[in-house]
Amino acid sequence: MTQPPIVLCGFMGCGKTTVGNMLAHKLGWQFVDMDHFIEHRAGKTVSQIFDELGEPAFRAMEREAVGILSSQSRLVIATGGGVLTFPENVEVFRKAGCPIVLLDVPPEEVARRLQGDTSRPLLNVPDRLETIRRLHGARLPLYQKAADIQVDAAKSPELVVENITLSLK
Ligand code: S3P
Repeated sequence: MTQPPIVLCGFMGCGKTTVGNMLAHKLGWQFVDMDHFIEHRAGKTVSQIFDELGEPAFRAMEREAVGILSSQSRLVIATGGGVLTFPENVEVFRKAGCPIVLLDVPPEEVARRLQGDTSRPLLNVPDRLETIRRLHGARLPLYQKAADIQVDAAKSPELVVENITLSLK
C-alpha cells in the first residue's frame, strides 16, 4: 500500500531535520532533508546556489524537488523554511495526500539555536534577530494555512516526535 510522505514545515532552526530523522526512524520510513537533496542534485551547497545562481534558481530547484519527493511512499520530508510559503508547493503535497506538520518555535529561540550559523543566506544580515522576527511573522500564517497539524517545537525533539505520532493517528 502506498503511504504518502509526511511533510515537516516551519521556520529555519525549528528542528525539522532532527525531528524528521527521529520520526522516520520510529516509523521505519526513509528520511529526506530537502536542502540536502537539492545540494546533492546541484553539486553545490545552498549558499553557493544563492550566491552563484540567485534565490529564484534555488526556488525552482525546490519546486522540482517537491514534484519528485511528493510521489514517494513511506518517506518523511524535512522541507526548507521557504518551501511551504509557496501555494503551488502546498498544492502538490496536498494532491499527493501528504499530511503537513508545522513545527513552530518563537523567533528568539530560532536566533538562539542558529547563533554562529552562517549556512542560511537569508539570515546573514547585520540585524539578524529583527530579520528573523519579520520573516517569521510574515511566514507563520502561510505555514499555518498549509499545515494539517501544528506542534510546539520548543519542546525536546523526543516530545515533538511523540506529539506528531499521536496527532497523526
Ligand atoms: C530557507 C531555509 C533553509 C534553506 C534556505 C532558504 C528559507 O532551510 O532552504 O537557506 O527560505 O527559509 P532550513 O529551513 O532547513 O534552514
